[in-house]
Amino acid sequence: MHASLARQLSHTLRETHLPSLGAPYQGKVRDVYELAGGRLLIVATDRLSAFDRILTTLPFKGELLSRLAVFWFEKTRDVFANHLLDVPDPNAMVCSACRPLPVEVVVRGYAAGSLWRDHVAGRAEAAYGIRLPSSLKKDEKLPAPIVTPSTKAPKGEHDLPISEAEILARGLVGRKVWEEVTEAARALFSAGAAWAAARGLILVDTKYEFGLAGGRLLLIDEIHTPDSSRFWEAEGYERRFAAGEEQRMLDKENLRQWLLARGFSGHGDPPEIPDEVRVDLASKYVAAFERITGGAFEASPGDPVPRIERNLRARGIFGKG
Ligand SMILES: Nc1ncnc2c1ncn2[C@@H]1O[C@H](COP(=O)(O)OP(=O)(O)OP(=O)(O)O)[C@@H](O)[C@H]1O
Ligand SMILES: [Mg+2]
Repeated sequence: MHASLARQLSHTLRETHLPSLGAPYQGKVRDVYELAGGRLLIVATDRLSAFDRILTTLPFKGELLSRLAVFWFEKTRDVFANHLLDVPDPNAMVCSACRPLPVEVVVRGYAAGSLWRDHVAGRAEAAYGIRLPSSLKKDEKLPAPIVTPSTKAPKGEHDLPISEAEILARGLVGRKVWEEVTEAARALFSAGAAWAAARGLILVDTKYEFGLAGGRLLLIDEIHTPDSSRFWEAEGYERRFAAGEEQRMLDKENLRQWLLARGFSGHGDPPEIPDEVRVDLASKYVAAFERITGGAFEASPGDPVPRIERNLRARGIFGKG
């Protein structure tokens, strides 16, 4: 797999230009085009971001992310309604256009990542409004999953933890909608964790976004991908935890730790990401895809743009050009 990932380095999808659709909104990872009829075309590019900064591209990352999100959207449709309408291409989804809620809903089952870093620094309670047991150890399973929301910062700024009390006090989300959202997030997390467990993985934590379309609340954006979630290898978790060793990760935390080891945590100039690291990270995304879906990832090498355009045209989405 490494050789085909390395060959794809020169064909990664940095951004899309689909002229007949107008200029897209560019998120850190996705290019979002408005379609008629209250729909969006969301194209996942190969852009890689960490600490809210775009750093480089990874071979096939967009396709892997989009296909994984589709897999989960279909699997969890009965748990909570989502924005997915159609899948015209492996990199693209047609979705219901929503008004996104201004908060991201993070659910955590373990003391890991930024929650652990904030806990060690003594800022967790103030930041999240949640008291954690003082005996808590790194990577320990929490007594029950917790919701630690964050703001959805404007482009270029960092998302910050926010307490439930502050969300309600500032009226960012009304109480009734907030209750529905947190209940949905917990149910989705529990469904995701159960599926992951059946595949020998631990769903450690994840981030959901919700939006409103015509008064209806929908899960939007992505779900349970290695960009939005942390996955650990279940086998050996207890042993590594007891020995104080790092868990085996299938997610972006690999990259975060690589960056932190080089002194980058989202401020100043990020380090250059060498090609070997890009290929290695891409192989982590492939591994996550294959482990979660239980199928092999058959990559279609080369420039994905002609294929995307052909597929959109076949759906009548991309008329001219
Ligand atoms: N169904 C939807 N309706 C409206 N907006 C959506 C929908 N699904 C996703 N989005 C938004 O589209 C964008 C997807 O792009 P991406 O995930 O790359 O952005 P991001 O960098 O994470 O977030 P931001 O745009 O806030 O910087 C996000 O802003 C997301 O909130
Ligand atoms: Mg996003």
